[in-house]
Amino acid sequence: MAPFTAAEEENLPEGLQPELMPKHVAVIMDRNGRWAKNKGLQPWDALRQMGIQVLTVFAFSTDNWIRPKIEIDFLLNLFERTLKSELETLAKNNVRISIIGDSSKLPKSLLKVINEVEEVTKNNTRLQLIVAVGYSGKYDVLQACRGIAQRVKDGEIEVEEIDERLIEQELETNCTEFPYPDLLIRTSGELRVSNFLLWQLAYTELFFAQELWPDFGRSGFIEALMSFQQRQRRFGGRKS
Ligand code: IPE
Ligand code: MG
Repeated sequence: MAPFTAAEEENLPEGLQPELMPKHVAVIMDRNGRWAKNKGLQPWDALRQMGIQVLTVFAFSTDNWIRPKIEIDFLLNLFERTLKSELETLAKNNVRISIIGDSSKLPKSLLKVINEVEEVTKNNTRLQLIVAVGYSGKYDVLQACRGIAQRVKDGEIEVEEIDERLIEQELETNCTEFPYPDLLIRTSGELRVSNFLLWQLAYTELFFAQELWPDFGRSGFIEALMSFQQRQRRFGGRKS
């Protein structure tokens, strides 16, 4: 992924320091329905020019399959339409799109669009947009466990060789160079992770906002980034 261009660095909102930008931001945009009605700013447009390299958004959770069919259809449809309508702009802006999650229950038409956008944008380098659909943190850990167990069974690795790095390699976030979000943002006043990335959030800085997603906007992102830049990250070590 490419870091800042000189022009972008110059245009960074006042008070933000380019060297303190998070590499990977994850976002839980609550109330997708409302997002559909009042599209406003897409998160990738807000973050594209701020030197962020990876943006992961939670579009649809494995736990959302228990919702009424009409709502599921609406959400998946919305996702498919958004992918289609945004593809051209994303491709033009050098954004690479990766989808993570259990695709086995997704409609065929959506799978087709997913394959297409991943293929068309695979060589893009400005920003990697990871969309988690049919995803949950527990699902990801589970499928990683299965993958590792299979490798042991096949005699490829020994049990003693299983370490954090190996697990990281089996998680679906292995599609990015920066699998651990530096910052997680959740809007709409909910103070929980709701089975989003779990392993990957171990040392992520959390930012919760009261505003509903459409009202959060660019100023919300700037506030979240400001807050992030003021934090002391220790990863279990001492304050330096
Ligand atoms: C998860 O929110 C975030 C998504 C947009 C997928 P949920 O609505 O699934 O989680 P809860 O039920 O509010 O915790
Ligand atoms: Mg909810």
